[in-house]
Amino acid sequence: MIANVIRLAIALACVGLWLTLASAHAGDAPTQSTRSAAEIMDILMWNREPVGGPFALTDQTGHERTDRDFRGRLMLVYFGFTYCPDVCPTDLQAIALALDELGSDADSVQPIFITVDPERDTSAHLAEYVSLFHPRLIGLTGSADAIRKVADAYKVYYAKVPLEGAGDYTVDHTAYIYLMDRDGNYLGFFPPGTSADRMVEIIKPRLKEPAR
Ligand code: NI
Repeated sequence: MIANVIRLAIALACVGLWLTLASAHAGDAPTQSTRSAAEIMDILMWNREPVGGPFALTDQTGHERTDRDFRGRLMLVYFGFTYCPDVCPTDLQAIALALDELGSDADSVQPIFITVDPERDTSAHLAEYVSLFHPRLIGLTGSADAIRKVADAYKVYYAKVPLEGAGDYTVDHTAYIYLMDRDGNYLGFFPPGTSADRMVEIIKPRLKEPAR
């Protein structure tokens, strides 16, 4: 448990230097969680509030997707951003590996990547990114408000952090991998750095449970 807490803390420090043309404009909707990282970690670790809920976002092909599209499958939901230099790619690779290990059982599991940086992560940009990891990975983006709503529902902490240089920023964020059942209900989360083997170990027995 101590190791997990340290990993979570490290995942919050997702910092890199990235130049972007999409600079922050004064007057943009604030791009961050409504609660602190500590508060959100406490809610998750002690199951203080429900996790997850409905969403309506746009996928990497430009199509509207809602949570209802994935009923009947387990959902593996991960929040991050494509410019994240370290934690996001590592966890997405582990998710991809877990899907490969599951073989044909993976058809019943839907991996979903939701950006916490909708300003830079357009559908077109997500299309390039998700295909680097797994053909079945769906990338979702939306308005700043829509992203904040879904992130708050999943108890995800994220905050834009300005970097040196005009318009540069990174996004601090918690990096939990959420496992949802076939009805969209929360089952639990994997901390950042979880191995593919561990994910498979937890997911496999859940695949035998039918949707209600
Ligand atoms: Ni990240």
